[in-house]
Amino acid sequence: MKHPRLAIDIVTLFPGIVRPALRESMLRVAQAKGLVDIKVCALRRFGQTRHKSCDDKPFGGGPGMVMMAGPLFKCVESIKKSRGEGHVVFLSPDGKRFDQSHAERLSKKRHLILICGRYEGIDERVREHLVDEELSIGDFVMTGGEIPALCVVDAVVRLVPGVLGNRASLECESFRGGLLDFPQYTRPRVFRGHKVPDVLFSGDHKKVLAWRKEKSFEKTRLRRPDLLKGQGSSLPAGRQVAK
Ligand SMILES: C[S@@+](CC[C@H](N)C(=O)[O-])C[C@H]1O[C@@H](n2cnc3c(N)ncnc32)[C@H](O)[C@@H]1O
Repeated sequence: MKHPRLAIDIVTLFPGIVRPALRESMLRVAQAKGLVDIKVCALRRFGQTRHKSCDDKPFGGGPGMVMMAGPLFKCVESIKKSRGEGHVVFLSPDGKRFDQSHAERLSKKRHLILICGRYEGIDERVREHLVDEELSIGDFVMTGGEIPALCVVDAVVRLVPGVLGNRASLECESFRGGLLDFPQYTRPRVFRGHKVPDVLFSGDHKKVLAWRKEKSFEKTRLRRPDLLKGQGSSLPAGRQVAK
């Protein structure tokens, strides 16, 4: 690929989990358009001994295995050698909670290298001396970092200019402007007796906008009041929230 806006390398012991997701839908199209170049790096290639081991028992005892520093360093160094410097992200339940602002920031980088952990995690020296940033996708523990990495890739790639056919859809989705998205409807107008709100057929663009903003606000207030803190003038008239 000549000059993608964003290059991504996913470092994993289980490429078979990641690859199928990259071949579908928006991620496939983004790569086909040449806007992003996503590669999956099979960590096992950098394993030690003839068994290509990438993990070992934890020093100090305890259950499970820990991913070794050697293969991870060698793998990331080889990626940087062939694709240039990159921002190294380790997916980890104890990382910073990934959100839309992280996705926006990462979508402006040129090259991301995502490390997927397994087992009890990775040798701490990798976190200290190789990783630039640690991200969690939520307060729960998954078996590995592959699905968290795909979450980050999906949320980031759709923000790369040119990836979404209609960029306007980014402007009015959840978290933009600190509000959740408004309700959406499509045909039929009446489904099993449930009607679409009349205002959406009024033809009055201003009224529709005002209704949507009001609904966004209501939903945010009920489901995510934390998002409203610190907001003021962007809320519907009479809906200002105390700081
Ligand atoms: C079983 S977990 C290790 C959990 C680790 N022992 C702990 O308690 O924090 C194995 C790997 O899955 C990934 N992982 C699990 N949950 C995650 C989450 N919520 N966000 C991001 N990555 C996660 C990380 O890469 C982690 O190293």
